[in-house]
Amino acid sequence: MTHAHFLARRKRLLKTIGDGVAIVPTAPEVIRNRDAHHPYRFDSYFWYLTGFPEPEAVVVLVGAKDGKSKPKSILFCREKHEEREIWDGYRYGPKAARAAFGFDAAYPIEQLDKKLAEFLVDRDTLWHAIGHDVAWDTRIAKALNEVRAQTRAGKRAPRAIHDLRAELDAMRLVKDAAEAAIQQRSADIASAGHARAMRACRPGLAEYELEAELTYEFRKRGADAHAYTPIVAGGANACVLHYVDNNKLLNDHTLVLIDAGCEVEGYAADITRTFPVNGRFNAAQKDVYEIVLAAQDAAFAATAPGRHFMEAHDAAVRVLTRGLVDLKLLTGDLDNLIEKGDYRRFYMHRTGHWLGLDVHDAGEYKAGDQWTTLQPGMTVTVEPGLYIRPAGDIPPALAGIGIRIEDDVRVTETGCDIYTTAPKTVAEIEEVMRHD
Ligand code: GLY
Ligand code: MN
Ligand code: MN
Repeated sequence: MTHAHFLARRKRLLKTIGDGVAIVPTAPEVIRNRDAHHPYRFDSYFWYLTGFPEPEAVVVLVGAKDGKSKPKSILFCREKHEEREIWDGYRYGPKAARAAFGFDAAYPIEQLDKKLAEFLVDRDTLWHAIGHDVAWDTRIAKALNEVRAQTRAGKRAPRAIHDLRAELDAMRLVKDAAEAAIQQRSADIASAGHARAMRACRPGLAEYELEAELTYEFRKRGADAHAYTPIVAGGANACVLHYVDNNKLLNDHTLVLIDAGCEVEGYAADITRTFPVNGRFNAAQKDVYEIVLAAQDAAFAATAPGRHFMEAHDAAVRVLTRGLVDLKLLTGDLDNLIEKGDYRRFYMHRTGHWLGLDVHDAGEYKAGDQWTTLQPGMTVTVEPGLYIRPAGDIPPALAGIGIRIEDDVRVTETGCDIYTTAPKTVAEIEEVMRHD
């Protein structure tokens, strides 16, 4: 992604805000314990508009006024600081940042409050992520009050505050070609990580040993980090949807579910694979697996421009419910079972979500009572599953089987393209896991 991409986004947003002023801060650094920090991750909105990686930075967009002043994008960031740079590393400083990232102006972050109050004078509208961070709400209210305090000097403060996220979410929902290229790289690395975990898997390993294989492959291939805490769930642990302990042993004749994805230039991949710990599916595992795989195929077929977001889910639910009847876990009329939601005992989540800079990415799912219509460039996950928790009425061969299969897809002009390529069919998985 070049700086021209970020600049184009700021220009587009500047058009939207008219003569208003928009404020987008990046994420704060977060302490993990005492003086150790969590690895730094920028705010996705800020990154989307700037590509600027440092903490303690804010971008302010000042719209054109009365068709006279030019619209401006202005960065506030940390000053150069020789001693801090010796300890913590390079900082751009405003001057170099302005030139390198194509801002109209850049100032030290310490000047933000004063400048903000100046920018807001005689502007109608302020755009900001209201309620996202109380500290920022307070800071912005202070700047507004400073302008209001000058009423007798003839200065006017904005009367309207709009939530900027609605505009940015709509922009982020449809990915351009440069974003698609990064998403493909992210998906390629994540796919390689899953294939590596399959190859390494043996009965008797601990779940965290497979997590280590994923981490190795992600970092070895240059991904920045895991995009979210990975799930490595052996046996019935797979029936705990957000299992992240990853500290149990992997037993022979069971399955392992891995939900893991890396982050590349801020973009998440999100893949789930479920495979036999010993490399061979038994009959019951295969039966359930084939149902989930067929549900995913049905969901892919319903992922196309003009279809609405929930059609993929509805298609998956139909195949999964029919499968549950075949497995004798449900009995009754198919439409009736779907209508009553009886499948939810075994399938309790949605089939997908938007994917991008955030793993559960920005973007509306519904406008009023209408589900969002898919358009080329939108990216969604397709992730059906079946989770058969052990219980008195569950046959032993099926008890504890938890399967999810998750891929990342881009909506195209005619249908969808699947970004992710980790081994997936029974034959592909058994082939890659053969130890001979
Ligand atoms: N890994 C998070 C999800 O699948 O939604
Ligand atoms: Mn997902
Ligand atoms: Mn996932």
